[in-house]
Amino acid sequence: MLERNLHMLGGTGESSYAANSTLQKRYAAGAMFLVKEAMESLVHVIPTSETLLVFADLGCSTGENAFVTHSSVMGIISKTCKKLDRPMPEIQLLLNDLPGNDFNTLLGPALSSYKERISESMSDIGESFYTAAVSGSFYMQLFPKRSVHFIYSCASLHWLSQVPFGLSNTTQGPINRRSLWISNKSPPIVSRLYLEQFQRDFSLFLKHRCEELHSEGRMVLIIPGRVSANPSTEESSVWISWYEDSLQDLVSKGIVKAADVDSFNVPFYYPSMAEVKSIIHTEGSFEIIKDHAYEILYTNCLDVIPADTDKIWEKIINISRAVLEPLLVSHFGDSIIQPLFSSTLPKMYAKESFKEKYKLANQANLAISLKKK
Ligand SMILES: C[S@@+](CC[C@H](N)C(=O)[O-])C[C@H]1O[C@@H](n2cnc3c(N)ncnc32)[C@H](O)[C@@H]1O
Repeated sequence: MLERNLHMLGGTGESSYAANSTLQKRYAAGAMFLVKEAMESLVHVIPTSETLLVFADLGCSTGENAFVTHSSVMGIISKTCKKLDRPMPEIQLLLNDLPGNDFNTLLGPALSSYKERISESMSDIGESFYTAAVSGSFYMQLFPKRSVHFIYSCASLHWLSQVPFGLSNTTQGPINRRSLWISNKSPPIVSRLYLEQFQRDFSLFLKHRCEELHSEGRMVLIIPGRVSANPSTEESSVWISWYEDSLQDLVSKGIVKAADVDSFNVPFYYPSMAEVKSIIHTEGSFEIIKDHAYEILYTNCLDVIPADTDKIWEKIINISRAVLEPLLVSHFGDSIIQPLFSSTLPKMYAKESFKEKYKLANQANLAISLKKK
């Protein structure tokens, strides 16, 4: 069951998501202006008699990213309240992820130090900030009706609730044998099955969020996606192709069975803005206030850039490892990890041709600000 197996690499070690989420931090920074506009307008319309504002971060994972964004949100609310001469409301932050998420790391020392920083830098907030973890799939109802004022989700909605059903469970066996996802080697039906799964999942997501949002509620979603209309361009997910090549290498060395690679597909869909908007229109619960597509260069996503280019690529691969390792282990077993990350991938990114080819590789992001109709 995907929802039980899916989680980022927990803890705070070298390969953990907490230590490898700078790419996702850049995604969030690129859409902060949408968060700012949504928060300001929320504070303007919510009556002063409502003294509690409830926010939810869906697919928050284990790193500090939830707190980085939230810290900006608190700053915006504080400033807007001062401008309007209204008292600062109490704030509750609901942190959601799947049950396998490492909530202990999230709610442990990282949260304590964040709370300390908040109390020091925003004395008007002081003790009036509360946090709670909510475990469960965001493709289901998570919160009571009309109880949340602001919903935010970054780098999570490209995760489908399952690998599209028709990919493996066919009478002729797996149909996407030569690929882990949608590539130019996949039969055309593969991209249709992925898109249909995304349409079902995202529509459900919107329906549930509409139930949970306050009547003036706002939502900002940041979805890794693609610019091209064609879902099989490498542009939409360069890094998956690195794993495709590496797994074939492990097959040729007899470390992994070809049949296991044939039946492995990743449960992601990188939509285009047109697909996202069409689902929002068809589902009908939300008005689009603003949308924004932007790209982040992989080679620009690290907080500290190592002098050695091989180290840069090692760190970029570690970002994908923090996301993919639990899925790889659940399909291929633990024994794949050492050869894949200590041998096959490092040999691949050490090649000059790799560095040259991918120095301008980037990830497109789709940010959408929504208001409940
Ligand atoms: C790449 S991480 C992004 C984490 C964080 N938002 C950030 O910006 O760093 C994606 C997260 O989405 C979570 N996720 C995926 N599908 C989910 C679902 N159906 N319900 C809740 N969380 C989900 C994953 O477990 C993972 O922690």
